[in-house]
Amino acid sequence: MNVGIITVSDRAAAGEYEDHGGPALKGEAERRGWQVIADAVVADEKVRIQEAINSFCAQGCGLILTTGGTGIARRDVTPEAVREIMRLEIPGFGELMRMRSFEITPNAILSRGLAAVVKNSLVITLPGKPQGAVECLGFVEGALAHAVKLCVGEPTSC
Ligand code: MTE
Repeated sequence: MNVGIITVSDRAAAGEYEDHGGPALKGEAERRGWQVIADAVVADEKVRIQEAINSFCAQGCGLILTTGGTGIARRDVTPEAVREIMRLEIPGFGELMRMRSFEITPNAILSRGLAAVVKNSLVITLPGKPQGAVECLGFVEGALAHAVKLCVGEPTSC
């Protein structure tokens, strides 16, 4: 599976803060035998997020993971950025990530993370905290291989 990883953070994009979320997700992807073919760090700006997603779709990433900007701070716009370019949203991903994460921290309810189909890619918006991003990826990973096959148009068992 070809994967793209996008860290969404004003401070990381400005070089004021070292990106830990992107490398954490890269490690998780590689541990699962997926190929991380693209990564980027972008500011909390809808256009920047959309450019990165569209570029990774064009590069053939079946799965695009973003980390950051899913919450309720003034600059958090990742879900809105994805919704503007998606073909459809898959609500179960966000529902499950919040439900399972709430058992770990009540603050998980503040994440508006989602999954969506953009062109031929599955996009999942994960929280910005590296541990939270890794946890949420783990909660939904069982459906990923099948979902990505459907997105790229490969035959599946159903
Ligand atoms: N989910 C998990 N599994 N673990 C976490 O630590 N952090 C929460 C939440 N989801 C967290 C989590 C917190 S503190 C916030 S504010 C929201 O995700 C939104 O984070 P973001 O704006 O960095 O995306």
